[in-house]
Amino acid sequence: MSDTVSRRSALRLLGGAVTVAAAATGALAAPARALAPRTVTPVSPRVETLLALLTLDEKISLLHGAQDPHSLGQAGYVPGVARLAIPPLRLADGPAGVRVTQHATALPAPVLLAAAFDPVLAREYGEVIGREGRALGQDVLLSPMINLIRTPYAGRNFETLSEDPLLCADLVAEEIRGIQSQGLIATVKHFAMNNQEQDRLTLDVRIAEQPLRELEFRGFEAALAAGAGAVMGAYNKVNGAFACENKPILSDVLRDGWGFDGWVMSDWFAAHSTVAAITAGLDMEMPSGNYFAGALKEAVHSGSVPEELVDRSVHRVLSVMERFGLLDGSAPARPDRDPQAGARTALKVAKAGATLLHNRHATLPLTGPAARSIAVIGPTGTIPFVSGGGSAHVVPEHAQSPLDALRARAGQGARVSYALGEDIFGKPLPGASSGADFEGQHVAPGATWTYDGTLTVADPDEWTFCIHYSGDRPKVFLDGTELFPPAPGLGEYFSGGLVGAAPDGLAVRRRTLELAAGAHRLTVTAKGRTAGQLFRLRRTTGATRAADVAEAVRAARAAASVVLFAYEDATEGADRTRLALPGHQNELIAAVAAANSRTAVVLNTSSSTTMPWLDHTGAVLQMYYPGQEGAEATAAVLFGDCDPGGRLTQTFPVSDTRHPVAGDPRRYPGANGTEEYSEGINLGYRWYDTEGVAPLFPFGHGLSYTTFEYSGLTVRPDGDGLAVGFTVRNTGQRTGITVAQVYLGPSPDLRLDQARRALAGYRRLELEPGGARQVTVRVSARSLSSWDPERHGWVLGTGTREISVGVSAREPRLICRGQVRSPEPAGQP
Ligand code: BGC
Repeated sequence: MSDTVSRRSALRLLGGAVTVAAAATGALAAPARALAPRTVTPVSPRVETLLALLTLDEKISLLHGAQDPHSLGQAGYVPGVARLAIPPLRLADGPAGVRVTQHATALPAPVLLAAAFDPVLAREYGEVIGREGRALGQDVLLSPMINLIRTPYAGRNFETLSEDPLLCADLVAEEIRGIQSQGLIATVKHFAMNNQEQDRLTLDVRIAEQPLRELEFRGFEAALAAGAGAVMGAYNKVNGAFACENKPILSDVLRDGWGFDGWVMSDWFAAHSTVAAITAGLDMEMPSGNYFAGALKEAVHSGSVPEELVDRSVHRVLSVMERFGLLDGSAPARPDRDPQAGARTALKVAKAGATLLHNRHATLPLTGPAARSIAVIGPTGTIPFVSGGGSAHVVPEHAQSPLDALRARAGQGARVSYALGEDIFGKPLPGASSGADFEGQHVAPGATWTYDGTLTVADPDEWTFCIHYSGDRPKVFLDGTELFPPAPGLGEYFSGGLVGAAPDGLAVRRRTLELAAGAHRLTVTAKGRTAGQLFRLRRTTGATRAADVAEAVRAARAAASVVLFAYEDATEGADRTRLALPGHQNELIAAVAAANSRTAVVLNTSSSTTMPWLDHTGAVLQMYYPGQEGAEATAAVLFGDCDPGGRLTQTFPVSDTRHPVAGDPRRYPGANGTEEYSEGINLGYRWYDTEGVAPLFPFGHGLSYTTFEYSGLTVRPDGDGLAVGFTVRNTGQRTGITVAQVYLGPSPDLRLDQARRALAGYRRLELEPGGARQVTVRVSARSLSSWDPERHGWVLGTGTREISVGVSAREPRLICRGQVRSPEPAGQP
């Protein structure tokens, strides 16, 4: 650790015991709302008039998606009603930038944004997307995604923010303010409990009221308090009913509890019914009208859906459109894109979220000889890993190769070599006996190309075949086995990411087999169909891998330092199956680190990975999917042009068996269609604390290139919360960033499950050498409260509670104990 040693400090309570205001009804009553209630949209005469003029067919047309006659490549479209000047709505993904067919700013993945622990930056991120969305002809953004990181395997962990509900709530609120400040309607998703991809379309998530309220719901509540115009219902079921027809969450919580007056749309093809869905509170079916078009009209005619319910949903949609100036033409004119501003924010976020996990012997930053003789290793050293796959994929404005960025930064006279190390796209097949060319085979439109020959293998070996292709996938059989059959599920459908497409854009699929020495029959059929086809058939083998590793080791030995880029490619539609880096990267890293101890591993990964090689490497820099400016940001952090500003927003486990959802299929990935959130409130770091399990890296962890000293902890009452004060000083030689984290211990007065420590506030600080800052972090009444499932309300956690300030969930610097008291009920002494 680069920071100074932990210190305890006695609590200095200003004015005695800490008193927190609770509701006037007295002790253990629900405290005043931590979140300001949203102003309910006033009844708009225009909306009322339109509702009176719309025919039933027109109303229904506003409640489901349709084909866009002038599509910009966005995910969804709802036609307007031209005769009443109701414009259409175009709805685009997504979480890391606007996903249309045109170029847009590819921002770093949301998990990287979250790592900055900076709500102000989240607002700026939102503003970039908001402006671009409007500039690119969109009205609604299908983002932010805020489902909590519950399982390290979840395929969309890069697309969401954190395992911590407070951090998530703060960030989503500001991001939504940013998006909507530009006139784009934000959609918070996926409500609720879409915490994994495996079986997401059918899984029934069983969760108790207390964790539901304290964890997953906190972010959604904050998003709505910030004014989000729309909510997207999740695919999965929650406690027995599909999320898109779930009255307890869509009506009782969202509407009656939180006063939401925007509209709820289904996730794509997540609606399952007409009557149940609209009655429960779904307003719009996307992307088409299986249940909310003809079937809804019939239901109205038959009386099973009162027309008032249709009116209610239309009212919600039109009210949001009215609020955004879409009904009376008062919306600001669509701006031009500002790619330079987008790029600046993308770079700023990538630097701010870059998380230095490990740094021994000052391996980083690269200075002196280590900065002038560098071996760059790994496929994502040359191919920029910009964004994850699925609906968060953005067509980037541009993206530099990290190798080029490192060469440019190292400057003239520096030697920056490159070795592939791990081959993900394969090498040409050894000349097949017939002389057929599998490299760049063009099949003309209408033509069929076939090959039926022999592949001769000299030694038994593991072969990974890679097919690169445009159009329909060619059929390839080896000894009668089809190598690339259609994959089950939707994983196939999602594009983006790294391994699914070659650098020239051809789709890529792989298949690994053990091959015996001798002749193997290979047959290939490729069809040009209407557009023609280009394909390549390649392979890696144990022998080619060994040669790649040997070349990387030679490069590592010949250089003063190594920057090794490792990847893991996650996507919507599929969970990961293991936490190790894919392929043979662990062996590569171990071999390279053994050859050069000044090896810095840069991780372009979605979420946590296990690191059996950790102790042998010099440094590990977690960059996630860093967006279109990722290469420059990575170079800046490696060379110390900026401090690595990120901290983990999720715990990294040591192994596949030591994390919150390990060992019990009912907990993950679910059994017989059901999944029990039996960990209760012990999500993420809360579980590691409760179970006494040591993580690989704790929540909140991240190193700086300088050192900080924390001192002078004070706690005092502040309205209905607490004010936690302390001083932070930069005791090192460089300007750097620390993220001060305030954790709160349990209340002795509550007979409810409580975390041993829970994040209650934080502050990101940049300090110059010798610079000091007095900081006050506010702890809200919500953070001091627990949800009581018997009273169905928040209860204040009174009594003596531990308050600590630290640099991760496991590294407190200052600790004190303070009293939290309910105020005396009004009228009593
Ligand atoms: C995803 C959503 C996305 C939608 C439209 C779905 O598969 O779950 O997050 O907004 O597709 O692309």
